[in-house]
Amino acid sequence: MFMRNSLLILALLISPVLYAEETPELGKPASKALVEQWNNDIFPDGEGLPSGKGTATYGKKVYQQYCLSCHGVKGTGDSADELAGAKHGLTDNPPDKTIGTYWPYATTLFDFTRRSMPLNNPGSLNNSQLYAVTAYLLYLNDIIGEKEIMDAQTLAKVKMPNRDGFVNYQSK
Ligand code: HEC
Repeated sequence: MFMRNSLLILALLISPVLYAEETPELGKPASKALVEQWNNDIFPDGEGLPSGKGTATYGKKVYQQYCLSCHGVKGTGDSADELAGAKHGLTDNPPDKTIGTYWPYATTLFDFTRRSMPLNNPGSLNNSQLYAVTAYLLYLNDIIGEKEIMDAQTLAKVKMPNRDGFVNYQSK
């Protein structure tokens, strides 16, 4: 009996070694297109912004077609986050977090939207649609005018209301 138990324990101890080569075979290799979609960071200063341009006027159409179903009319929120139309401030309890009250950079708003939105089909909008919808979101938050053209130069120059609300530890 003692011998049998010892053998069992020994078998259990060495089994992970024997099966270490096996994998659960989950997932699949990332395609080149998928890697390209993810590996294209845009930095706060605008480095990495692509060519293309758009205004809020066209962005409204893009928004209505691809964003409204989740983010609601004029970005006031629905099943997904409120993006505009804050009723009170960031320092209130609870804070009212929108693009206008919270986001520090317009450039990273473009980056976020390009890599993750629309949630049900990320990567599907072209660069001009992305500039336009970003312009519309900035316009809804009273940050730019309806006809202001957003491109790689102008987007990087937009100063977000909460720009100084974040601490950059590297520059301390
Ligand atoms: C199918 C639903 C859906 C659609 C369509 C959609 N979104 Fe979203 N969106 C979400 C959800 C859910 C989140 C929250 C994701 C998270 O917190 O990780 C989100 C988050 C965001 C945020 C970040 C909000 C914040 O401040 O944290 C932005 C900006 C945004 N979406 C923009 C857009 C734009 C622009 C479009 C259209 C091009 C779009 N979304 C379409 C569901 C959607």
